[in-house]
Amino acid sequence: MQKIAVIGAGLMGHGIAQIFAVNGHEVTLVDLDENILEYAIRGIRKNLELMAEHDVIATEDIDAAIDRVTTTTNMEKGVDGADFVLEAVVENLEVKQDLFMNLDRICPPSTILASNTSVISITEIAQKSLYKQRIVGTHFWNPPHLIPLVEVVPGDKTAKETVETTYQLLLDVGKHPVKVKKDVPGFVANRLQHALWREAISIVENGIADAATVDECIKFGFGLRLPALGPMENADMVGNDLVLAIHDYILEHIESSGDPSPLLREKVANGELGFKSGQGFQQWSEEKAELSRNNLQQYLLKVVKDM
Ligand code: NAI
Repeated sequence: MQKIAVIGAGLMGHGIAQIFAVNGHEVTLVDLDENILEYAIRGIRKNLELMAEHDVIATEDIDAAIDRVTTTTNMEKGVDGADFVLEAVVENLEVKQDLFMNLDRICPPSTILASNTSVISITEIAQKSLYKQRIVGTHFWNPPHLIPLVEVVPGDKTAKETVETTYQLLLDVGKHPVKVKKDVPGFVANRLQHALWREAISIVENGIADAATVDECIKFGFGLRLPALGPMENADMVGNDLVLAIHDYILEHIESSGDPSPLLREKVANGELGFKSGQGFQQWSEEKAELSRNNLQQYLLKVVKDM
């Protein structure tokens, strides 16, 4: 499979296009906006230069990778000859459904159509499409060129071969794909992530600890072992009898609300949005916010280099 088209060149789309280009695929990046496409190419170059500085890729491979990416605002031209089309447009069901209906018209039925939706059901996205068997979810994580995981999610009508070909393609470009069995809201990883975030916010809301302390409990505590030991392996390691005893005692005390936290709603209503407004659960000067972003990037580059 050689030619890849990525539709939507924003935050996720340009990083996803970069992954395929670095691994030798011809990639077309499609967006509605010419300026976003130019910005995307600059973003890819910046990412690759930083990766080269950290010896994750070779400097001499940067230009060749960028040369493999062509950009266009013309959808028909962009997906022409593509074996695999991946959309990373706005998170809106109708936009994604319309896009896939349009692709039905342009792409032969053998072309795989993938969606990078964060939470929308793949079955719903495929609902208006003619060839539902070739539609699959590929949930990358931000920043997609540094986080290995991609959740591969079948809709109700997705063919096994679509899942297998997609999984293999992602393996071949160095990602760590996983197969999700059922198309449920949040797939796997966002369900896990937001179960933790709900409890974190609840702890702050109930005055048990402040926001910085909650994060310290993760960063200097069990968070350190998570890359080596997931919860399922950990349960087996300590013994399910102990896990049961702990759950018997603690589960009734843990947050189980089906609604977002009132504290979270209040913060949003007050414009306390976090980095972008300077105040969230904590105060953020521009320097402090930039330091946080840089810390994450440096950390991920080191992890990827050591992989
Ligand atoms: P973004 O807003 O940065 O980029 C979306 C791009 O799509 C924009 O450049 C826009 O011009 C373009 N676009 C919109 N409609 C289009 C159309 N019909 N044809 C061509 N281009 C079109 O959004 P972002 O953050 O990159 O998200 C994209 C998708 O990836 C969403 O479904 C989102 O939920 C998902 N996602 C986002 C993550 C994140 O951390 N931002 C993580 C994982 C998935």
